[in-house]
Amino acid sequence: MTGIFSDTILKLKKELTNRGCPRAETAVVLGSGLGALTDELTEKTVLKYSEIPGFPVSTVPGHAGTLSVGRLGGKTVALFGGRFHIYEGYSAKTAGFPALAAAALGAETLLLTNAAGAVNPQWKPGDIMVFEDHIAFLAPNPLIGAPDFIDMTDAYSRELRQKAFEAAAAVGTELRSGVYFFTTGPSYETPAEVRAAARLGADAVGMSTVPEAILAARLGLKTAAFSCLTNMAAGITGEKLNHKEVTETAARQKAVFIAFMKELISRI
Ligand code: HPA
Repeated sequence: MTGIFSDTILKLKKELTNRGCPRAETAVVLGSGLGALTDELTEKTVLKYSEIPGFPVSTVPGHAGTLSVGRLGGKTVALFGGRFHIYEGYSAKTAGFPALAAAALGAETLLLTNAAGAVNPQWKPGDIMVFEDHIAFLAPNPLIGAPDFIDMTDAYSRELRQKAFEAAAAVGTELRSGVYFFTTGPSYETPAEVRAAARLGADAVGMSTVPEAILAARLGLKTAAFSCLTNMAAGITGEKLNHKEVTETAARQKAVFIAFMKELISRI
């Protein structure tokens, strides 16, 4: 590891080791409603973010703010229950923090999950999407202040995407593939913004994940990202958006999403 992130990673590594945290092969950031994946871990070490010097503190209800490391699918896996959103007031760099923590844990693979709105009119709430790519040039970049002109061509690993399709088939669920349009939120998009996103090539829209994916690309982690499409994006159905629909769909699809993630982890 080189550059200005190496100090942070080394310090974090020390703090995690001092607290009995084992090295992990794969790290997963759990989006809204996916916290229950933590119940699947065995031989678990659980740390509160607030206990770990260097960790930011998550402020969103429903985000646990815990790091759990244990065994799942035949490997040691770190689960981040809670992330840091720009809409909470964090910088893009802090929003990308789980990627740094994943590197500090020794992980080579980072799986990112979230809830997102469906922009693609052929899709429906409850669908799961693997990121083919993202569009985020209108939002702050986590590498601002640590400028590095990194290549983003393979920010989302082809190999992991292929494994994701195999895992989805194995658990009998359809997997969509598409482009995620990142906005900072916290207001949902306007219908005009959603139409613009669609014209630019987006299939989904959301307020997380991209800062982590950019920092992960900088750190050389192999990354895949997945959305549970909890609602049709603004203006598509004419219905108004509300956070309750997002959390209810995420809760309804939890079992399928968790089965899929478990299967994918076992195939990495
Ligand atoms: N827009 C942005 N973020 C979201 C949405 C949405 O429609 N649904 C869930 N997260």
